[in-house]
Amino acid sequence: MTDLAAELEAIEHASNERLAAATTVDAVDALRHEVLGRSGSLTGLLRRLGSVPAGERPAIGQRANDVRRRLETLIGGRLAELETDDLEARIADEAIDMSAPGRPLRVGHLHPVLTLMRDLREIFHAYGFEVFEGPEVETEEYNFELLNIPPDHPARDLWDTLYVAEPGSIEAGEPRPAADQTILRTHTSPAQVRAMRELDPPIRVLTPGRCFRYEAVDASHGFEFFQVEGLVVDRDTSLADLKGLLEEVARALYGRDVRTRFRPGYYPFTEPSVAFDIGCLVCGGSGCPACKRSGWMTILGAGMVHPEVLRAGGYDPDEFQGYAFGMGPDRMTMLRHGVDDIRLFFGADLRFVTQFSEGR
Ligand code: PHE
Repeated sequence: MTDLAAELEAIEHASNERLAAATTVDAVDALRHEVLGRSGSLTGLLRRLGSVPAGERPAIGQRANDVRRRLETLIGGRLAELETDDLEARIADEAIDMSAPGRPLRVGHLHPVLTLMRDLREIFHAYGFEVFEGPEVETEEYNFELLNIPPDHPARDLWDTLYVAEPGSIEAGEPRPAADQTILRTHTSPAQVRAMRELDPPIRVLTPGRCFRYEAVDASHGFEFFQVEGLVVDRDTSLADLKGLLEEVARALYGRDVRTRFRPGYYPFTEPSVAFDIGCLVCGGSGCPACKRSGWMTILGAGMVHPEVLRAGGYDPDEFQGYAFGMGPDRMTMLRHGVDDIRLFFGADLRFVTQFSEGR
């Protein structure tokens, strides 16, 4: 046997051994490179065939080619095998464990003020009220004029107003004519005239919604807040009906033992006007910082609809009367939960509002 034949056998033998021991794609790849690559041992041997005496060349050449083909087949097969194993291992790794507990979904809940407004809707529903919504962006006409508050009326000071500019008007320096100024509603009362103009009597509506005032924020005032308006228009309603209804609503909301009182009040769109108070739920009436030591908390303003407002709504005040009330659900929610700072309800701290998620 020539030296080359012995070398050939040694290469094949060593390759087979390494192949049997190789357990990774990388190891087999390295072997292929070292034996069959451009400067691999077998490739080098094939190049040296020219130096073999012509008589022996065909035989040894034949053998060398056989070895190369065998190694190519074996190495290729082993590579394919290992690559499949790899894939299977990866799939096993990524497999979903069907027995693992699910990740809890974060479920939202109603804000406590919305919860209270829904409760109000339910309570009033029992008395025949339905929801009638009005726009948040209003005209001065509905927000003031039709409610018996003419321009320059000092009562406008009670409702510091945010004005909405016509696009481009600020740059152009052209304020609108006062009568059709667009504003953000300062209360839900503009819905009174809207409801009277849209609905047939008898009217019993509730208008919940967001209101806006140009106001400094403190523990009991926000510049953005909720109101729930109520309006009844019929041929035979009285202040006694209003009082009876509000007392029942207070009991439904705060319990049978709640104490209530009416005080005289003033609004240009009701006559007479009242304020409705409930006994402070924080101190039980003895006086505390939350009720400013008075023992009482005002939760709404109300009164008999002013004849001018009935007329604006298209009703003859000699034939129809009405009563209206504007509730402060933010304040009512504070009372319900004994919270003394309104800013907590509308601040960014979710830990505060999520306390009220229970059972809702
Ligand atoms: N709109 C009044 C306010 O914002 C409340 C109110 C409503 C008073 C209806 C009387 C009747 O203060």
